[in-house]
Amino acid sequence: MTVPHLFRPLALRGLQVRNRVALPPMCQYSAADGLAGDWHLVHLGKFAQGGFGIVFVEATAVEARGRITHGDLGIWCDAQVPALARIAGFLAANGAVPAIQLAHAGRKASMQRPWQGNGPMTAADQEGGERIWPVVAASAEPLEPGWLVPEALDPAGLATVREAWRTATLRAAEAGFGIAEVHSAHGYLLHSFLSPLSNRRNDAYGGDRGGRMRFPLEVVETVRAAWPADRPLFVRISAVDGIDGGWSLEDSVAYAHELKARGVDVVDCSSGGLAGSATAGRNAPRGLGFQVPYAERIRADVGIMTMAVGLVLDAAQAEAIVAAGQADIVAIGREAMNDPNWAVHAARALGLPDGGFAEWPQQYGWWLERRERVLERIRSNSPPVA
Ligand code: FNR
Repeated sequence: MTVPHLFRPLALRGLQVRNRVALPPMCQYSAADGLAGDWHLVHLGKFAQGGFGIVFVEATAVEARGRITHGDLGIWCDAQVPALARIAGFLAANGAVPAIQLAHAGRKASMQRPWQGNGPMTAADQEGGERIWPVVAASAEPLEPGWLVPEALDPAGLATVREAWRTATLRAAEAGFGIAEVHSAHGYLLHSFLSPLSNRRNDAYGGDRGGRMRFPLEVVETVRAAWPADRPLFVRISAVDGIDGGWSLEDSVAYAHELKARGVDVVDCSSGGLAGSATAGRNAPRGLGFQVPYAERIRADVGIMTMAVGLVLDAAQAEAIVAAGQADIVAIGREAMNDPNWAVHAARALGLPDGGFAEWPQQYGWWLERRERVLERIRSNSPPVA
């Protein structure tokens, strides 16, 4: 048989990825002082066992003030490396490429966890001992009325943040991650520079699109220089703001050209989040695979690999995306929470040889393959239900 597109290995610089299925970064809001714990190991480990080719550790803050919430992971100091290294090691030992998203929340830092309200922290949130902290952004404009007013980063502040990305990248490499991703989406720090709606600067880091892209591109250059040459670099973008006068798909195509020129390997195509929560759906209409056209357009126009994400639910949908050349990798987020074995189930659904059981960890696949033969016998011997 011909191998389904979703299960064809992918070469990315020095890496060979076993298939095109990725777990996208998904914050768990479950860290203490930025440290990964058992939750993160078990949560992420399930997806490596479940056959995913790439497993992303959630948005991991390059600076303490760049956390979205007090529960975010961090990589701003060396003490945070061993717990991340343990996760990276487990993922790799189970066949997945360990990946990490490096992030800075900008003016969307100091928020409540989603289940605490998903808004800016309030005095009541401080009663548990967690403190509101000052936030930074491209301009001194809050996300919305009632949110913290960020401090606009001055040249010294920009240099501090760039240096934080650099040292975080070195730590991510030391921890053993195979892929690093720069988070420049969802209204966080780098996106706040890109969008004309959040960047009101009148220095070299604002103004026209070239000025607004300057700082994100400097960060990408810094990360690429610190990241080993044989390891791929992804950048997540909000392909559109979905707000009148905001960042557009044309802007994203121009940005992707610049990213490609700086050695970025894959553009991870998300959208929205400039105002309100990154996970709130009010900025753009959302249907199944609603962001796939962004990945397709950037891939075609720029000649760079893309990752598609957003409401991809089943194997046939994901296979069609890769087969049609809309994206090189498909990320499965919430549906993977629903089914951590999504990738091995997809292998079976797409008709891989041996019922797809070879894709399972042998601790499970050996048994399931035998059980399947028993079940087939039972089914064929059972009288039809009246
Ligand atoms: C997310 N998302 C997200 N995106 C990102 O770039 N960094 C992150 O850390 C997070 N965190 C996060 C947490 C949770 C709980 C959810 C549900 C989502 C967005 C995520 O990566 C993905 O783009 C969306 O969930 C859409 O894909 P699905 O879930 O429809 O497959």
